Amino acid sequence: MTSRFLVTARIPDAGLDILREAGDVTVLDALPTPEELTQLLASGDYDAVLTQMADKVTEETLADAKVKGIANYAVGYNNIDVAAAGKRGILVANTPGVLSDATADIAFLLLLAVARRLREADALVRAGEFKGTGPMFMLGHDVTGQTLGLAGFGRIARAMARRALGFGMKVVFSPRPPQEREVPVEELGEFAGKVTQLPWEEVLRTSDYLSLHVPLTEDTRHLIDDDAFAAMKDTAILINTARGPVVDEAALVRALNDGVIAGAGLDVYENEPELAEGLVDAPNTVLLPHIGSATTPVRDKMAVLAAEACVDMARGEQPEHPVTA
Ligand code: GLV
Ligand code: GLV
Repeated sequence: MTSRFLVTARIPDAGLDILREAGDVTVLDALPTPEELTQLLASGDYDAVLTQMADKVTEETLADAKVKGIANYAVGYNNIDVAAAGKRGILVANTPGVLSDATADIAFLLLLAVARRLREADALVRAGEFKGTGPMFMLGHDVTGQTLGLAGFGRIARAMARRALGFGMKVVFSPRPPQEREVPVEELGEFAGKVTQLPWEEVLRTSDYLSLHVPLTEDTRHLIDDDAFAAMKDTAILINTARGPVVDEAALVRALNDGVIAGAGLDVYENEPELAEGLVDAPNTVLLPHIGSATTPVRDKMAVLAAEACVDMARGEQPEHPVTA
């Protein structure tokens, strides 16, 4: 029997071709509303669905769902109630690995851009205000020799560590903040002897740059709040390419305005695509529109992974990258 696939937003042909080869494909023109998604999943018309981060797949969405699997076009899967899916025997898959380097590129780009005031400097030149350089002109922060703190030590954090070591930075990390877990030395691989594991509080206290690479869970929601900012150096720069709600964005605006920290580079927001009040006007920020994985080759690879997962799950087989609660 041919499989039937629902794709909630147009993805690269690299993925659609795989689905078309395996069965019938419906690609929606616009992301479904929660009610529409609930109905589509309950219709019995689809064996597997390929979702986007903006699709909220809650317990309610899944109440009468008849699909066998959900492949999320993202590595993060906080938009899906994986436990609720599991209870109904619905498989869930994500797209890890293929986007780690691209996302770390964006994190390091933000780090450099905030450190060296890229946005301000570029705006000054375009405004015709470049009247010549000078000894005290547009001074920024050093990168080499400074300490990068990592929240998390998964694939993306490790790709970020690799970049930072290449720039001569010191790298410290806490693998599972706010919990105090330890990565055994033998699991540090290429990083053994090159990075330092510290208690989360120490990472906050010692980082010149703090880059977030944790999934969004109940544990990590508002991991960076007023207390965390207070623990950080007033010269520190926060980088977030993970998920917006890991940072209390109102607290971030306060911290930037009051000089509690020195700057922030963000690719993700607490209520995407809305920005917290005052964030646009806060000093020393670079704000990107969630483009961590946005390169043509990476998006092709994500499409292939998600499509292959749909094909497997529609046949009742385990996907290559299953996620469980
Ligand atoms: C992007 O944010 C992803 O989780 O893949
Ligand atoms: C994502 O790929 C991660 O493990 O950080």
